[in-house]
Amino acid sequence: MIRAANDARFWDRIARKYAADPIADMAGYERTIERTRHYLKGEQTAFEFGCGTGTTALRLAPALARIVATDISGGMIAIARERAEAGKHANVEFAVAAPDAAPWPDETFDIALGFNVLHLVAAREAALSGIRRLLKPGGLFISKTPCLKEMNPIIRIAVPVMQLLGKAPYVSSLSAGELEREIAAAGFEIVERAHHASRGRDPRPFLVARKR
Ligand SMILES: C[S@@+](CC[C@H](N)C(=O)[O-])C[C@H]1O[C@@H](n2cnc3c(N)ncnc32)[C@H](O)[C@@H]1O
Repeated sequence: MIRAANDARFWDRIARKYAADPIADMAGYERTIERTRHYLKGEQTAFEFGCGTGTTALRLAPALARIVATDISGGMIAIARERAEAGKHANVEFAVAAPDAAPWPDETFDIALGFNVLHLVAAREAALSGIRRLLKPGGLFISKTPCLKEMNPIIRIAVPVMQLLGKAPYVSSLSAGELEREIAAAGFEIVERAHHASRGRDPRPFLVARKR
């Protein structure tokens, strides 16, 4: 609880900078958008957690009936709402919420999305169980997650130092295998695994998981 509040403050602090930073690998991002769209149908509703400034929700909204995009950071959600208003997106709703305490009934959504966020969630088991609760039977959870154990060891050394300096939030050190096992243990079957980076070794598996 305290950790989530501290993390929300961290993301609030950097929200404007995050919004201004360009996407590092645009070709890789476009692949993720395209592959995600492949699973969406126009009559479906989606839930996104850790949506940040709403870029992905706004990109995917035209392929859905409705998308509810959430984040623990009010600063991120304020920027996402500004963008939605500027783009006149009527079927996107932004809300401050955490996946394990989301105020929607069981089985509300066809699709759940979580991009670049699962590694930032300390209470991951509760979050995955919350995501599963929100999905209809057979619903899909689509994610892309940086796995620290797949990265250069220097990054793993740098993260705790940055945390001590208040320059990084909570980050889990996961391998790709551990991530898949956690998602499967939460009651999902992995139906697609891919890597979308346009260059180098990609430590961020794209996973599509079906609710069992
Ligand atoms: C790296 S950004 C990714 C934003 C967006 N999904 C993207 O791909 O650009 C991580 C986001 O996750 C949010 N976040 C961090 N911890 C979270 C948690 N425990 N539950 C939900 N969201 C969280 C942050 O506020 C931030 O907006």
